Amino acid sequence: MKETLLHIQSEAREKVATVQSSAELEVLRRAYLGRSGVLPQILRSMGKLPAEERPVIGKLANETKELIEQLLAQRAADLGAREQEAQLAAERIDVTLPGRGGSIGKKHPLTLVTEEICEIFTGLGFEVVEGPEVETEWHNFIALNIPPDHPARDEQDTFYFSDDLLLRTHTSPVQIRTMESRQPPVRIIVPGRVYRRDPFDATHSPIFHQVEGLLVDEDTTFADLKGTLTAFAQKMFGAGVRTRFRPSYFPFTEPSAEVDISCIFCNGDGCGVCKQSGWIEILGSGMVHPNVLRNVGYDPEQVQGFAFGMGIDRIAILKYQVNDIRLFFENDLRFVRQFE
Ligand code: DAH
Repeated sequence: MKETLLHIQSEAREKVATVQSSAELEVLRRAYLGRSGVLPQILRSMGKLPAEERPVIGKLANETKELIEQLLAQRAADLGAREQEAQLAAERIDVTLPGRGGSIGKKHPLTLVTEEICEIFTGLGFEVVEGPEVETEWHNFIALNIPPDHPARDEQDTFYFSDDLLLRTHTSPVQIRTMESRQPPVRIIVPGRVYRRDPFDATHSPIFHQVEGLLVDEDTTFADLKGTLTAFAQKMFGAGVRTRFRPSYFPFTEPSAEVDISCIFCNGDGCGVCKQSGWIEILGSGMVHPNVLRNVGYDPEQVQGFAFGMGIDRIAILKYQVNDIRLFFENDLRFVRQFE
């Protein structure tokens, strides 16, 4: 009996040590200590032993039971710790990984400038209207006093779909469309995309953007044009900005003027941006030509108007000091995100 118990001890040591999971350990526990396990059986058979052996064997049997309980407890603790570690490793979340935050868009600089211009003019009582980019020869040229062989067509060569349909070369045709569809007074501002047969380089693009303005009413004079455009320039570029009106030529206005602002970088002293002149050209303008008014059925004896057109890309280039117009069309977010 003594040998049996000693054998059980060494066997239990070995078996417990090799068990690899809590589940296996539980099987072992039952085999040794469970109701019909090895040790309870031995303890139950104690009564059959001779009286003098009983205390010795009884003691050994109890020691064996305690030893096995201890071995099981120790192993359970080790396995539990190991299993928890394995579980934690499997469920590990790397909290140092950067999250996938949603990215917030930014307005394109051309949109920002367009919105700013439109906001200033709506504040002055103008209404924003738009027109088609595919235009008729009538709206883009003829009604604007640019007949088929007019030299102004050279500068505004464009892409034709047919003899009569083309990509508009300026936003001025929307003047015609608006006047054809309503009676004076007219006060509109027209942002939009325009097209020309131009190269694509740092300073040219076959696609660019303009804002057109038109006001037609009774008793409209050149003074209204000057006052309106000066108010715009000061709102857009700063209260201290001065304007200069230079005689110019456009087929659809008479007289015509190009408008310069005092250089916003050197305040008119002369610098690299204004090429030492102190002035920067920002738009073309003039009094609406009587032929244009007649072409839309208005009576130039009753109403007069002024009009203007400016390049949005040019103004954005100036405002944000962009050195290549192509950047506006590349959709590179690193570029677009720089503007507020
Ligand atoms: N349409 C002209 C251009 O594209 C700009 C322009 C000049 C528009 C004078 C006007 C104006 O309305 O009065 O070059």
